[in-house]
Amino acid sequence: MNILDHCTVLITGASAGLGMEFARQLAPKAATMVLVARRIERLEILKHELERPGLEIHCRQCDLSERTELEELIQWLAGAGLKLNFLINNAGLGDRGRFEASEWERVQSMLDVNIAALTRLTHALLPTLKGQAGAAILNVSSVASLFPIPKLAVYAATKAYVTSFSEAIRAELRGTGVRVTTLCPGPVSTEFGQVAERADEPDSVKPPDSLRVSAQQVVAEALQAVAKDRARVIPGWRVALLAGLVAAVPIAFLRCGLNRRGR
Ligand SMILES: NC(=O)c1ccc[n+]([C@@H]2O[C@H](COP(=O)([O-])OP(=O)(O)OC[C@H]3O[C@@H](n4cnc5c(N)ncnc54)[C@H](OP(=O)(O)O)[C@@H]3O)[C@@H](O)[C@H]2O)c1
Repeated sequence: MNILDHCTVLITGASAGLGMEFARQLAPKAATMVLVARRIERLEILKHELERPGLEIHCRQCDLSERTELEELIQWLAGAGLKLNFLINNAGLGDRGRFEASEWERVQSMLDVNIAALTRLTHALLPTLKGQAGAAILNVSSVASLFPIPKLAVYAATKAYVTSFSEAIRAELRGTGVRVTTLCPGPVSTEFGQVAERADEPDSVKPPDSLRVSAQQVVAEALQAVAKDRARVIPGWRVALLAGLVAAVPIAFLRCGLNRRGR
């Protein structure tokens, strides 16, 4: 049986980009969806778009960088008695530019949303996931997690955490019925780029357009990978090839490129 059929899924960051696309692609097969983000009005509009008989949709406003709001969400989930069997930790944000010139609030938000909230939700929801016949966690990381990236230093490091954490708990959870997949997209046209852009540093290095993959393709490949219990998915053959090539480069050579990008 496909684990996605009649699933009860929680999607963080469902108000835009990949999260919204996850909701759209899962709506025809899911039984229950919990959509989480700060922009509740967007979640409500998405709910109206996706509503169909047999599908229950809950919209929850939550700033995942606020510990009290995150704990309230966890309490609500416990009280709602939902038999959650699919967790998509998708919400995240970036920051392009030199680390020394970064605004601390933005850095703190990346640490809180990309790392702390993802880890806390996984920890809090694991007992529920383990109680289901088959369950899955999909953690949205990035190809940026696979090597250090100057001018995306903190973002890439937060995603390195996500990839490492996800692979480790996947191994811990073998045999429990909970599968863990890490999604490592390359560049995707969403609101991510605008959010990550600094007003005072607009010329920072951007990825080439030839590496862009659509949100539809990223999500379709990710859901396929979950269904097949794959450990990791890098959507788009060009991005996957490039990631493989860079991984094969000895760190001493890689540093030459990093130093150039860091200037
Ligand atoms: N786009 C890319 O090129 C790319 C590449 C690799 C990996 N990724 C990863 O893919 C994931 C989705 O990004 P995206 O491209 O879809 O970006 P996006 O269009 O900017 O969407 C980000 C989502 O995260 C939510 N979010 C951000 N901060 C939040 C907070 N404090 N509390 C709750 N929700 C918050 C946003 O909702 P609200 O603003 O409404 O709260 C929004 O729904 C991220 O983890 C990102 O790192 C993206």
